[in-house]
Amino acid sequence: MLKIYMGCVSTTGSSSLSPKYCRCRYLCESYILVFHIYCYMGKKVIGLLGSPLSDGNTAKLLDRALKGAEDAGCTVEKIEVASLDFQSCMEMLFCKDHDTCIMDDDMQQLYPKFKEMDGLIIATPVMTMGIPGKLKSMMDRFQVFFMARYIRKKPFISKERRAERKGLFICISGMKIPEVFVGAKLTVKAFLDIIDCQYTDELLISDMDTIRNITAHPALSEAAYQKGYALGKSLTA
Ligand SMILES: Cc1cc2nc3c(=O)[nH]c(=O)nc-3n(C[C@H](O)[C@H](O)[C@H](O)COP(=O)(O)O)c2cc1C
Repeated sequence: MLKIYMGCVSTTGSSSLSPKYCRCRYLCESYILVFHIYCYMGKKVIGLLGSPLSDGNTAKLLDRALKGAEDAGCTVEKIEVASLDFQSCMEMLFCKDHDTCIMDDDMQQLYPKFKEMDGLIIATPVMTMGIPGKLKSMMDRFQVFFMARYIRKKPFISKERRAERKGLFICISGMKIPEVFVGAKLTVKAFLDIIDCQYTDELLISDMDTIRNITAHPALSEAAYQKGYALGKSLTA
């Protein structure tokens, strides 16, 4: 998109031109400027909080990552899964033939947001060696995207946008054992694939039972900020 902008600019360079041409050039350049601002400012990043605690360690890391993405020039929005009102998938399979789910709940507001977004930061604690149940139920409801892409072969996200959409996974666990993030990562990778978003980066912090309070460890908060900033920069560059 930016390449188009630069190509247009190179066509407008002379100063000894008729007033009509100058007016036309002025209009053209104004449109280009607005277009450029839209391209730069228009990148949207969603932060998805899987923890039921809105002020817990996961939430604090997500806030730092979102601040990083915002500082990199993105528009950010935080969604707390625990505050949403929806049911888990009932396998009614309405989405096999339709662009949405038959269940009329808060998921209906989420689908358009997840079609529009450019970047996604999923932040969650490990629960029972996977992700929290409500976050998993939310992901299951994205079967709407799965059916469109894999069954009806009419994906909501174009090939070009699929290549641009990027995801950062932030996950913390109480224990410090080798395979503590395996279950969560498998689910998140499957989810990102279904919604046409790349698994670009991750921040995995184990041993929270020892760490306890993330704010007492500035290096971890800084790591979240830097990951969020890098994600934002990769979208706005
Ligand atoms: C219901 C529940 C299940 C958990 N299961 C695991 C687990 O299987 N493995 C693990 O390492 N930590 C487990 N934890 C610990 C959390 O991952 C850890 O306390 C984390 O720091 C919570 O983050 P939060 O306070 O931001 O929600 C569990 C915690 C809860 C509440």
